[in-house]
Amino acid sequence: MKRWMSIVVCMMAGVLSSCAEKGLHDSYDGAFLIGAAVGSEEVDHPYRFPMRKERDEWNVLHREFNTLTAENLMKWMYMHPKPGLYHFDDADEFIEEAESNGHAVVGHALVWHAMIPDWVFEQKRNVPISADGLEERMRDHIHTIAGRYRGRIAYWDVVNEAVDLRHVTDENGKTVEEAFLRPSKWMQILGATYIELAFRFAAEADPSAKLLYNDYSMTHPAKAQFVADMCRQLRARGVRVDGVGMQAHWHLEYPSASELQQVLDIFREAELPVHITELDLGVLPRANTMQDADIHRDVALAAELNPYTEAVPEEVLAAQAARYAALFEVLYANRDLVERVTFWGVHDGDSWLNNWPVKGRTAHPLLFDRALQRKPAYDAILNVPTGEHSEQ
Ligand code: XIL
Repeated sequence: MKRWMSIVVCMMAGVLSSCAEKGLHDSYDGAFLIGAAVGSEEVDHPYRFPMRKERDEWNVLHREFNTLTAENLMKWMYMHPKPGLYHFDDADEFIEEAESNGHAVVGHALVWHAMIPDWVFEQKRNVPISADGLEERMRDHIHTIAGRYRGRIAYWDVVNEAVDLRHVTDENGKTVEEAFLRPSKWMQILGATYIELAFRFAAEADPSAKLLYNDYSMTHPAKAQFVADMCRQLRARGVRVDGVGMQAHWHLEYPSASELQQVLDIFREAELPVHITELDLGVLPRANTMQDADIHRDVALAAELNPYTEAVPEEVLAAQAARYAALFEVLYANRDLVERVTFWGVHDGDSWLNNWPVKGRTAHPLLFDRALQRKPAYDAILNVPTGEHSEQ
């Protein structure tokens, strides 16, 4: 149909809004939700995280995505900075904006070892709190926050990054990866039961929210298997775990499509729906050999680690598009298992990778550039469901 004809049809039908420009999520309608994290590094108050998004950025968010995550503002250190002191204004505003534009809202994250103040784990300064005391603090935190937004949060990241990986030598002398529970303060004070408690409190506080376990390095089979077994054991104890979140801070060099498929198979076997919760695909030189997202890393800035300060070469953008498309092909083929794919930011200027694991780089991991223009990766992903993309 010619464009002027379609405009006339729209006007005649009086449904101008339904003729609105389509976005990425329309391509994946019926497959999985497509989302983005909303946030910024512009902290101008010690405890608040104003979003200060420009309208044009919100327009992109509302057109392209149908689920939003608050990148930072629901984290313990921002939302519950002192005993008895909660900041809800920013989250209220964020959730209203998301709801009034039809998004499924994701809450991130209730229990995590990072971005949490020390007082949570202390009776008084430098004196650890008892297990009962910490359990009570956790209950209060989860009941207060998840309770406040009861019925309005589609998915909660209930526990974040409880599992770590290390290298060990197996009986054949081979170095292999082994997963284990991270010895966080949660773990030291409460033991492994803290994970179960968090899920139980979240289920009490918001029975309709789906509850997720979220972590990085989830394309490593040892970690995926450990997480799958952990969730299976929780379920066997009557704890509701509705799925796993794979953070997916990925890179041009990893993971491969077959590595991704391998861990999806592990979660399928364990009957755990999968959410890709924090997707980005870095193109800068790797600062270390790790494939993790440990936020405490801090590698010194060096020119060779920051090659694309002015522009990104076209071949790099093409390689990024091809890698994104190859991974989305796997996700789309597993759409009965995958419930959601959320990008960790909207445009490259917004990405946390500008400051992690090296502060002050010019990163290019997302689908929109700094001028909010679509990158080749956008089209590559858009076309996966129609099969227009061909593997390169
Ligand atoms: C990151 C945010 O993107 C940054 O703005 C913040 O400075 C540090 O945290 N895993 C997670 C996310 O679960 O919460 C982290 O987000 C990235 C790694």
